[in-house]
Amino acid sequence: MDLRTAIFSRRDTRHFAACEIPDSVVTRALEAAHAAPSVGLSQPWRFVMVRSLEVRQKVKELFEIANERAACEALQIEGEERVAVYRSLRLQGIVEAPLGMFVFCEMPPEGDFVLGTSTERETILWSSVCAVQNFWLSLVADGYGMGWVSIIDYEAIRPLLNTPAGWRPLGYFCIGKPSDDYGGQPMLVRDGWGERHAAPWVQWI
Ligand SMILES: Cc1cc2nc3c(=O)[nH]c(=O)nc-3n(C[C@H](O)[C@H](O)[C@H](O)COP(=O)(O)O)c2cc1C
Repeated sequence: MDLRTAIFSRRDTRHFAACEIPDSVVTRALEAAHAAPSVGLSQPWRFVMVRSLEVRQKVKELFEIANERAACEALQIEGEERVAVYRSLRLQGIVEAPLGMFVFCEMPPEGDFVLGTSTERETILWSSVCAVQNFWLSLVADGYGMGWVSIIDYEAIRPLLNTPAGWRPLGYFCIGKPSDDYGGQPMLVRDGWGERHAAPWVQWI
């Protein structure tokens, strides 16, 4: 698959086929992630791969709690009609996806000099997001997919993971073989939550 096909066919996936993901596909995706650009060559990405069904079930429980809070917030801000749509959306595939992944960003200790971060320290976090995108596109190129789950209280999961307190969580990711391509559009468009801008906002000066 060429790069542009991978970019345009990539979807945030919440529906997975009941089949395993080969280790070789995961290894390639991790290699792709590790080839990402990073500010000052900081390479701050840290990956925790989750095969354990027990951990995935715990993550799902945390999602349910956070999602209920989000629905209450949506009700306050958006009203009843929209919250009904919100509640109809499937926003994760945590248990169905055969593999899960936490991505963390290891922030350098305060006071360390990291080239490129003096004006904006968040560039370290952005570097980790570059790695996530490379990981994602590699999966797509190999016929697999991924879904980003941000609706989780990551602090509540830390005790299960044993990761250093200073690592900043970026997300939990559901990884596997997509069983739905949402008609070639974002699921949130197909399922009536939002519209996609036809083109990027660009200014030339
Ligand atoms: C930082 C980030 C967090 C996201 N969190 C969630 C999430 O918790 N649940 C979900 O269903 N989708 C989540 N998404 C997926 C977006 O909804 C999705 O990317 C967007 O609707 C466009 O669809 P596409 O990725 O299929 O093009 C997240 C995406 C990003 C970049």
